[in-house]
Amino acid sequence: MNFHDTLANFGNSEFVPDGWYWLADSRELKKKTAKAAEIAGKKLVIYRSESGAVYGLDAHCPHMGAHLCDGKVEGEAIRCPFHFWKFDNNGACTDIPVGADHTAIERLNSYKIREHLGLIWVWTGDPTEEVPLPLPEELEDGLVSTRLGTPFEKACHPNVVMVNAIDAHHFTSVHQLVVELNMKPEERDAYSITFDNTTPCPPDHWLFSPLRRFYKKALTYNLKYWWGHTGAVTLGPDFLHFHIIFALRPGMNGSTQGQTILLTKNRKGMLGKAINACLLEITRWVGNYFAKGDTVIFQNIDFAFKNPIKADKPIVHFVRHYEKMRSSFFKQKSMPSEEIKWSRQPEIQA
Ligand code: FES
Ligand SMILES: [Fe+2]
Repeated sequence: MNFHDTLANFGNSEFVPDGWYWLADSRELKKKTAKAAEIAGKKLVIYRSESGAVYGLDAHCPHMGAHLCDGKVEGEAIRCPFHFWKFDNNGACTDIPVGADHTAIERLNSYKIREHLGLIWVWTGDPTEEVPLPLPEELEDGLVSTRLGTPFEKACHPNVVMVNAIDAHHFTSVHQLVVELNMKPEERDAYSITFDNTTPCPPDHWLFSPLRRFYKKALTYNLKYWWGHTGAVTLGPDFLHFHIIFALRPGMNGSTQGQTILLTKNRKGMLGKAINACLLEITRWVGNYFAKGDTVIFQNIDFAFKNPIKADKPIVHFVRHYEKMRSSFFKQKSMPSEEIKWSRQPEIQA
């Protein structure tokens, strides 16, 4: 049995770990509008109510299955576009215009939704759990200036995309970088893990000699991963760190839908704003450089991590961390009560 055969969850599209997943750019969802959203084939509707709050429900109406994204937002509720049944933000049916008993209708699943760093996120685990949304550790005070990068798609599982940033081995082969990285993994809790580079900077190469005075300790290339699909990269000289979050979610057929978020510490005043804007532009360039480098590989890879070598140690740590995660996302739907009644009908005796 090779290493890959021992894995149950890693790279498996049917396993969606409990976590926060990005769904859409906040600016795309205006007041009183609804939008379709999807994670690993599970369809949701998100809508912004009259008060400006964003809610998320199962996409399809329990009457005949119309998609609620074509419906009408009324106050904090949404009305189905087909026969106008109305659902509140908890998924309960509150009105059937022709006068049938709406209290007998099965409630739609409702999801915990938050807006964070310009995106709309959904929590897929136990809604009573309070888990913070992703932020690079250096910016945990929340005083950040952000900008969204370009959304992207990759033809492989989000786990495979995440692996790329800790795959020190491929930095020389694919990206032709002469730096040597040694990523030290540290599990923070059940859903997050960090990898900090420990190699001293700058590397012994003439290219880096002008940079020598800007790095006191290790070359800063630090990562934090949450739920195996969203990661923050922090890099740059000691006096100026750049931060990029790669927010990923599983798409259909094992694909990845991603969105980069560029972040910098928020500087105040006119000059501060100009510096923020300038730094975010540089960060965008850095993000694009990393995102583009591996496109060809991701297009055709059939991921199977069969033979790890010593250089793959951080990846093995990540895989083991991921294997321990929980998933409740696809277990939330209960059987419709009518269907159970039909199956329990007594057989007719001849
Ligand atoms: S399908 Fe939604 S009300 Fe009929
Ligand atoms: Fe890469």
